[in-house]
Amino acid sequence: MFRDLKSLYLQNEQTYPTETYLVQRQVERSILKIEQEPLRGEDRLNKEEHKEYLHQSLKQLPTSYQALDASQPWLCYWILHALDLLEDEPTEEEKIGILEHLSRCQSPNGGFGGGYGQVAHLATTYAAVCALCILGTPEAFDVIHLDKLYMWLLTLKNSDGSFRVTELGESDVRGLYCALAVAHICGLLTSELVENCSTYISRLQSFDGGLGGEPFNEGHGGYSYCGFAALCILDEYWQQTESKCVPHSLDIKKLQFWVINRQLPLEGGFQGRVNKLVDSCYSFWQGGLLTLLEFWTRKYQKRNTSFRFSGEDLERYLLRYCQCRGGGFRDKPGKPRDLYHTCYALSGLSVAHQNLSGTVTHQYLLPKINALLNVRMERFELAATYLRNKKRME
Ligand code: FPP
Ligand code: ZN
Repeated sequence: MFRDLKSLYLQNEQTYPTETYLVQRQVERSILKIEQEPLRGEDRLNKEEHKEYLHQSLKQLPTSYQALDASQPWLCYWILHALDLLEDEPTEEEKIGILEHLSRCQSPNGGFGGGYGQVAHLATTYAAVCALCILGTPEAFDVIHLDKLYMWLLTLKNSDGSFRVTELGESDVRGLYCALAVAHICGLLTSELVENCSTYISRLQSFDGGLGGEPFNEGHGGYSYCGFAALCILDEYWQQTESKCVPHSLDIKKLQFWVINRQLPLEGGFQGRVNKLVDSCYSFWQGGLLTLLEFWTRKYQKRNTSFRFSGEDLERYLLRYCQCRGGGFRDKPGKPRDLYHTCYALSGLSVAHQNLSGTVTHQYLLPKINALLNVRMERFELAATYLRNKKRME
């Protein structure tokens, strides 16, 4: 393995190095250094240590998390989803605490803010609704004020099909995705809400094939995921209501080609955009996008995609280079662990486990996720059935 990786590194020699090139070499060097060290169980997922880290985070966060004061539903979601992927859960008392906390983040006018008394925001609304799905009880689902949520979503809609993330906030595809994702779970999709969304998404594709956050922006993994996942949600909606596929003008093959080439051969993980560094969170943003694209091509082109990524390489990046002693995952070697990367590294590992070549037998496989929303399959099914029924009965 070490010899193979080293040859990839040497092919990269350059005469006039740029700053980007130098930081890239630094990452490559740190990976080769890890490869030279004797293995101390890094090839295995240290489930118990991760659980311990997550349970500890529920009790008390380090002071550095003060910067995430406006992201409290995100913290709940990252911890709950990571625990769920490890087939663990908070204690009953902790669950009650999380539920109360999320209720307090809900705005009287619909949607969830980043904390008590904070203005409702589409990203924290997505995180809160996903966290409630994972809690998975009628009491958790009943926290969501469906009618107010729908009216609030409509107030954020722009005529070009995009959504403002908050009343006076910016508009981009994150907003659009978060709005459609929560509406999809809660049975709130209507022709009014989805109008022009696919036209907006079609305008996001950059010359290289990736999607940017807004028209004319650079292709990026996070936004490409949001755009394509939103298109898949629209596609399901169109099929249910108009029995045909959603109109769009994305070049799907070009998007596939772009995303498959974001997996880096030496690191094994994904970069977010061309000429940038590997980062474990893209294991989900790019890996989840590939899962959705695979599903799409099977459905519409009636073929398995030829753009398969290496689950083994992604697993190597996550387990060997990003797993931290004492639990948790980091963005890349040299960075500290954090809850965001722990959640998305585990989500990426679940995706990687669905993309193994099958030559190596695995001791364990992480549970499958619903790649449209990034919650476990069965969490979505239960929550969507309950909420959609409730909406229908109102
Ligand atoms: C970094 O940009 C940006 C991220 C690490 C986040 C990208 C993720 C999204 C936009 C998805 C958001 C999804 C939801 C559901 C709200 P950078 O320029 O610092 O990093 P780079 O060098 O890797 O591009
Ligand atoms: Zn990251």
